[in-house]
Amino acid sequence: MNMHTNKTIRTALLITAAAVIIPTLFVLTSKAEDKKDDADFTPDPKLVEQGKTLFQTKICFTCHQTDPNTPAPAGEALHAPKFIGKFWGEDVKVHNGINGPIITVKFNKEYFMESVEQPMAKIVEGAIPGMAPLPTTPEERTALMHYVRSLSKKVEEKK
Ligand code: HEC
Repeated sequence: MNMHTNKTIRTALLITAAAVIIPTLFVLTSKAEDKKDDADFTPDPKLVEQGKTLFQTKICFTCHQTDPNTPAPAGEALHAPKFIGKFWGEDVKVHNGINGPIITVKFNKEYFMESVEQPMAKIVEGAIPGMAPLPTTPEERTALMHYVRSLSKKVEEKK
């Protein structure tokens, strides 16, 4: 076998591999795309635990009530949303920016992450734009998200 044949075989193999890999990647990424807006991601128990601790240490609990029997006085005055009942995946009416027009968004991953990172990007209708931009890393926000997601009733309903 000369060098040339070798190269031809290699090229043929590469094309075959690409023909298999590229459509597979397509299917995988389009699946990920579908998931992006999916309200029903399952909270990871380990991240829920981390998030639960962060919800205390990052003082989220002072404004956002998570237990009907434990009020969050700081949040009451600001009309901070409670994380009680079914809220994940629901529509939320928000001002698009402070005093901006009212738009409807879904309470999903993206909305959660943005709400924590930039509280003033969208202001829940009827609430006072008083949520402090508490410094959190993306990892911390992810853990907080899993915890808050786990509080939404829909998780129990699905069982
Ligand atoms: C000083 C009180 C306060 C603290 C502390 C606070 N928030 Fe908020 N938060 C608010 C208020 C008020 C709103 C509604 C106004 C707005 O959208 O910015 C809000 C909105 C949100 C929303 C959007 C909720 C919805 O129903 O649309 C999320 C998510 C959120 N906060 C998460 C957090 C997390 C996580 C923490 C801790 C890192 C936190 N908040 C700390 C007051 C607070």
